[in-house]
Parts: sequence; structure tokens; C-alpha cells
Amino acid sequence: MQVGIDKMHFATSHLYVDMAELADARQQAPDKYLIGIGQSQMAVIPPSQDTVTLAANAAYPMLTAEDIAAIDLVVVATESGIDNSKAAAIYVAKLLGLSKRARTIEMKEACYAATAGLQLAADHIRVHPTKKALVIGSDIARYGLNSAGEPTQGGGAVAMLVSADPQILVLNDDSVVLSDDVMDFWRPLYHTEALVDGKYSSNIYIDYFQDVFQAYLKEQSADLADFAALTFHLPYTKMGLKALRSVLPMATTDQQTTLLAHFEHARRFSRQVGNLYTGSLYLGLLSLLVSDPDLKAGDLIGLFSYGSGAEGEFYTGRLQPNYQRGLDLELPQRLARRQRVNVAEYEALFNHQLQWIADDQQLDYQNDPQRFVLTGQVNEQRQYLDQQA
Ligand code: COA
Repeated sequence: MQVGIDKMHFATSHLYVDMAELADARQQAPDKYLIGIGQSQMAVIPPSQDTVTLAANAAYPMLTAEDIAAIDLVVVATESGIDNSKAAAIYVAKLLGLSKRARTIEMKEACYAATAGLQLAADHIRVHPTKKALVIGSDIARYGLNSAGEPTQGGGAVAMLVSADPQILVLNDDSVVLSDDVMDFWRPLYHTEALVDGKYSSNIYIDYFQDVFQAYLKEQSADLADFAALTFHLPYTKMGLKALRSVLPMATTDQQTTLLAHFEHARRFSRQVGNLYTGSLYLGLLSLLVSDPDLKAGDLIGLFSYGSGAEGEFYTGRLQPNYQRGLDLELPQRLARRQRVNVAEYEALFNHQLQWIADDQQLDYQNDPQRFVLTGQVNEQRQYLDQQA
């Protein structure tokens, strides 16, 4: 039996800031952000969206009544969760109207955890092939205004439905994992923004990719030429390009050109949204599959997942004949319809998130067009609303 990703769908904010404008405001050359970092636009997440609402907004449009009846495992992977104890997946399952018999958990290991969730879900479906599992990587990437990490912020959620005989991608049982204690990026419980050694984390990322990719090639007796395309965790799109370039010397000139062309399709959406933390690799995969006209059924796709701290995994999937049917094909249009905010508006929204205090709070959500919104906090409980109910 084959198991893998049956459907994929993405949600982010309806707001973005232009990266050339942000560079100007920070007295940086626009090309540093546009080319050096590789970002054109950055999602600006309003206070009325959090990890829970982004996750629910990502999953809702792709689920049929049949899917909802079959889902018995919900994993929300996040490193920007809203509670130190209760799983975001419980809120998400309620908003989506899922069965109370579903197992609902939150997973954490920086940007890597959605991959752990996906592998857990695949194993679950191998044992229970008539069931389906929902895996969502949902995050808001925040480094702080005027910080070095600021141009690598963003936010959003990628939802994936895992099933037997999937429409999109069959997951191969060939993962190579590396994890070790590395202090490149972490967020103590008393911090709202991550602590990061940016250059160090970029170097560790490449080291981890090299380690797991070379081990994969050895274990599988494989060759770079076996892959139609490689996809990467994209904290900023230049990072994935650096990883790809680190293995290009193994390829012929023609293969290099082809791999670089596929990569441009894979980074298209991340370039317009920014970092998603847990969802970034999967937005790259979605971007590749939605945008690239030169892929075909049977193609082998390589996926490199990385989470600071650190954990890396390289694994592969086989593209299925009707993969387009499972994709979020309207995403390019939705991204194009977003509203641009200026730097002052972005800064105001950045500073006006729900406060980490016990007081009751009311948020302005009326202009947020998303179906699920956060309206505030009452008695220390977050208040969620389905605006279309
Ligand atoms: N035109 C084109 N490129 C330019 C440029 C210009 N005018 N000015 C600078 N650049 C390039 C630099 O050469 C560099 O490219 P390189 O990395 O290929 O050498 C890139 O832009 C970034 O410049 P740099 O000076 O290194 O940026 P920075 O010190 O401001 O920080 C990060 C960059 C990524 C380290 C920082 O944004 C960060 O800490 N991000 C969060 C951590 C992260 O995402 N880690 C990834 C692993 S998970």
C-alpha cells in the first residue's frame, strides 16, 4: 500500500509589505533584501490571526465531508504556539468540526516539526489505511523591528491531508535524520521573539543538509541525477539556493540548469510571503507543484527539512498521476489580491498583537477577510470566531 500527501492548502494574511520599501526604511540597499536574502514581499500578520486561525484557515477549504469523517489524527506543528500546555490542534479540530474521536496533538522542534508530524501521520495511515490524518505547519515568524532577522519574517500555514493512495505525493520510507544539541536559534519561554545567531544558523543548515543528503545517496545508492527536483526549508529563499548550490558540482551542466529552474518555481510563493517556520518546506513543495510546467507523474522529489536546535531530515516522494487535483491551484490569485501596507502600518500591526497578559482584550477583526479569526481574550481564554457560521 502507498501512503502520502493527498491534498495541500495554504493560508496567510491578506496583508503584505514590499521588501524594497522595507529596505529603504532600514537604510539598506533594496537588492540586499530582493537578491541577497531573496525576498520580494513579506506577509504582515494582523492581531486577528494566530497559529490556530492560520491553521484552520489553511485546512478548511480543502476538506470534504468525507475527509472530515475519516480524519482521526490531527497534528499541528508550530514554534509560535499560543499555550504552553494545551495543543493548538484541539482548537483547530473544533473550528473545523472534526470528530471528537480524533487524536489531536501539537509538535515542536523549531522549523522541522511538520516533517515529524508528516512521518507520524504516514505511519499511522500505514496501520489504519481507511483513515486520514491532517498535518498542519502553522507559524508567525517574528524577529523584531530593526533586527537583522526582520527581512526573514513572515507567517502562514500549510495544511496537508495524508491518506492511502494519495493524489499528490507518495512518501518513500527512506528518511535520513540528524539531530544534535546546537544553540543556533531558540526561544526561552519568557521571550516573544526568537534568539538567533543568524550566520551560525545558516552555516548549520548547510552542514545538516550536506550530512543527511550525502548519507541518503550512500544508503540508497542514489545519484543527484535521480531527482527531478530538490525542495528545501526556506527561512529566506536565498538559503535554499545556497543549499542547492552546495551540491550542484555533483551534476552535469544540463542537470544544474534543470535543478536551478525547478528551484525558481519552488521558491516563488515563499518569495512573496516570507518565512513560515514549520510550513516553509511545504510551501516550497506546493509552489513547485503549482508553478512548474516541467514535472510529470513518477518524478522523484527530494525534500530537505531543517529546524534549528537542530534537526535535519532528507527524504523523498514520488509524484502521482493526478497530483494537480490535490493542490491549492488558486493560491497565485489569492496572493496577488492581497493588500499592500506601508512600513508604518506594518510596524503598528507588529506592535499591536494580543498582549501576553491576563486582562480581557478585544481585537479589531472586522476588516480581516479570513473565515476564522481571533477576536480577543476573555477570562484568560482566547476567543475564536467563524465569520461565516
Ligand atoms: N545586493 C545584493 N546582495 C547583497 C547586497 C546588495 N546590495 N548587500 C548584501 N547582499 C547579500 C550579502 O552578500 C549576503 O549574501 P550571502 O549570504 O550569499 O553572502 C546577503 O545579502 C545577506 O547579507 P548579510 O550582510 O549576510 O545580512 P545580515 O547580516 O543582515 O543577515 C541573516 C542575514 C539571514 C543572517 C539574517 O536575516 C537572520 O539572522 N535571519 C534569521 C535567521 C535565519 O533565517 N537563519 C536561517 C537558518 S534556519
